[in-house]
Amino acid sequence: MTEETLSNLSHEERRFEPPAELAASANLTAEAYERAAADPEAFWAEQAERLDWHQKWDRVLDWDDPPFAKWFVGGKLNAAYNCVDRHVEAGRGDKVAIHWVGEPEDDTRSLTYADLQQEVNKAANALTELGVRAGDRVAIYLPMIPEAIVTMLACARLGAPHTVVFGGFSSDALASRLADCQAKVVVTADGGYRRGSASALKPAVDEARVKAADNGHRVEKVLVVRRTGQELAEGSWEDGVDVWWHDAVDGASAEHECEFFDSEHPLYVMYTSGTTGKPKGILHTTGGYLTGCAYTHWAVFDLKPETDVYWCTADIGWVTGHSYIVYGPLANGATQVLYEGTPDSPERGRWWKIIEQYGVTIFYTAPTAIRSFMKQGREIPDRHDMSSLRILGSVGEPINPEAYVWYREVIGGNRTPVVDTWWQTETGAIMISPLPGVTAGKPGSAMTAIPGVAAEVVNDEGHPVPDGSGGYLVLSKPWPSMLRTIWGDDQRFKDTYWSRFPATAERGAYYFAGDGAKKDEDGDIWVLGRVDDVMNVSGHRLSTTEIESALVSHPKVAEAAVVGAKDEDTGQAVCAFVILRDEAGDGGDDIVAELRGHVRKEIGPIATPRQIMVVPELPKTRSGKIMRRLLRDVAENREVGDVTTLADSTVMDLISGRLTSGRSDEA
Ligand code: WT7
Repeated sequence: MTEETLSNLSHEERRFEPPAELAASANLTAEAYERAAADPEAFWAEQAERLDWHQKWDRVLDWDDPPFAKWFVGGKLNAAYNCVDRHVEAGRGDKVAIHWVGEPEDDTRSLTYADLQQEVNKAANALTELGVRAGDRVAIYLPMIPEAIVTMLACARLGAPHTVVFGGFSSDALASRLADCQAKVVVTADGGYRRGSASALKPAVDEARVKAADNGHRVEKVLVVRRTGQELAEGSWEDGVDVWWHDAVDGASAEHECEFFDSEHPLYVMYTSGTTGKPKGILHTTGGYLTGCAYTHWAVFDLKPETDVYWCTADIGWVTGHSYIVYGPLANGATQVLYEGTPDSPERGRWWKIIEQYGVTIFYTAPTAIRSFMKQGREIPDRHDMSSLRILGSVGEPINPEAYVWYREVIGGNRTPVVDTWWQTETGAIMISPLPGVTAGKPGSAMTAIPGVAAEVVNDEGHPVPDGSGGYLVLSKPWPSMLRTIWGDDQRFKDTYWSRFPATAERGAYYFAGDGAKKDEDGDIWVLGRVDDVMNVSGHRLSTTEIESALVSHPKVAEAAVVGAKDEDTGQAVCAFVILRDEAGDGGDDIVAELRGHVRKEIGPIATPRQIMVVPELPKTRSGKIMRRLLRDVAENREVGDVTTLADSTVMDLISGRLTSGRSDEA
């Protein structure tokens, strides 16, 4: 927790009451908090009734063997049926599900629920034809085009867990994920549009397929959407493996009888950074996850499906895209905008123009984006009529009070509540957030756990801290959309999330989120950021060790240490300290550019270090543990703190003041 956050906290006295009209017609009202706390299982059962169950559950929660939970035990349902078919059957087939906006202007497409049903059925038939069966894993590496959603739903329809890999990740990152979950089929595109030009995706899949094969895993088929029409590299097409989407899907039957799966059937695996190098495959299952997404999307955004136009700017490759573009909004029958490109293409007001054009009423984005717009000045958004907006959401990292107030004032015209939503890939759905029709919002605070969720801030021993103090954020009761395990690694699941505060008879098992938090004098929660060696860059979790391994894989690097340093634009930025191998000499003039390029290639642009410092030594404790705290001091230009536990206390003198700077153009 930085001092600045703490001082903001103590001086923050602004409160924003919910607008009277919103409060009067809110989906969820204050009574829900008490009702849910009195009988959480009954409350969650009520939320599960939002879905169509082919067979109802016998038991709401099986928590006999923590931390392995089963929700809605014995129930059967199909996630895609819930997101698509049931709306068509209820006579809402003509309602627009997705207003898709391509990055090239005038490249738009609207899909009704009936259209979506046809597309999903065709894709399900095509995937079946390619050999996909219930339980098989399908990797998705696509730009933000409707086919991404169609493929996810087609997989869900078949009971084939999908694993979506962010299109900005490199072939190495893709390869390790393909091998870890043993993906049978990959769905990709020739390329996508970014900042006005077509950038290729297929070559990364080709490379990843070779790398996965080297690790003993064979991908059987690659289904390729033609999006940009760009030329494929020579020799890239492999007959028998590569199949065009328009050949396989367009001609497939639009009829598909769906099977209903157990509530605990795996729905997807999403990889996220942990403190050790290997990303963790977070497993979400069907009934509980869908319940969590549908309920929170309805409650936190006060969704009125008949009149709202919803837009979440996240990429489909992150959990926010899964829960709040695909599963929550579609389960609720919402109409939403899906935008392919970057916020500033072809001009800086593109987002605001889209809000105006489509009459967006609910808008969900990340603090890093808000801060970058703040820097450009209010003239750009002020050119657009955004009076349709009624609720604004924020997610991904703590939103600083200045950005919150700017967001509310400039984008929301001072009418709209801002819901600062705290959650994680692991929690599957929003856990801590104001309710827009109930809570008087405080800029910078995610406020309290939503009805049905139990959050606490505890000290080292796991005891709740008093109001006005800080500690570790935990979830103290199971919830339906909780991760079920780490793919293929139950032990790591237990160790990572459930062992920091071991279960006791009185309090049961605590889920440790890895975040520090503070309860203010009113008991409201301020999330302060990660306490482990995980950074948050532009709302994306990156592990320090993953980037360190990438650096060390470069032939000139002997050792590397990475820390997250405070950054005005991206929240945190990657700062790396490297020791070169003797034979590399001083590394050459371009060593910094070379290493940055290397990380970009190994992991992707988002992980590119903002700064790389070539150092003779790293600060280590006597047991050899790198003291990142000291490196963070250097990276954030602070006076270096207590060095008494260093094995060699002169090391920091060698390091301080040697920062070689170079900004990343993309990350
Ligand atoms: C981590 C989870 C949840 C989807 C996007 C990120 C940080 C997230 C907030 C918030 C303060 C936040 C936490 C959390 N975080 N939302 N509203 N206020 N911090 O998902 O990649 O799993 O990252 O993001 O540190 O643990 P993720």
